[in-house]
Amino acid sequence: MAEEKTIKHSELETNSVRQFYLEDDTVVAIYNLEGEYFATSDVCTHGQAFLSDGDIRGDEIICPFHEGSFDIRTGEPADPPCVIPLERYETRLGEDGYIYITIE
Ligand code: FES
Repeated sequence: MAEEKTIKHSELETNSVRQFYLEDDTVVAIYNLEGEYFATSDVCTHGQAFLSDGDIRGDEIICPFHEGSFDIRTGEPADPPCVIPLERYETRLGEDGYIYITIE
């Protein structure tokens, strides 16, 4: 298990999402929900859409392709056609102001 440094929290406005490539080229979506930080896979489990191109509605990210959605906090599918959960990553806000993601 390791941690990877991602973006500065100041680059992520409240209730917004950003795409970030990890060192192994895994693409993740990093979210700021009311000042809490979350991270999931950025690729929708229904197709090849980047969720970071979608919209946040409440605690959910809406996929830009077919408007299925996922719970940002858990990665669980919330609306069809999404039925497979997203990979979810633990996050931590470092004292240096960067968001860190735990990689299994
Ligand atoms: S590709 Fe995301 S809902 Fe279809």
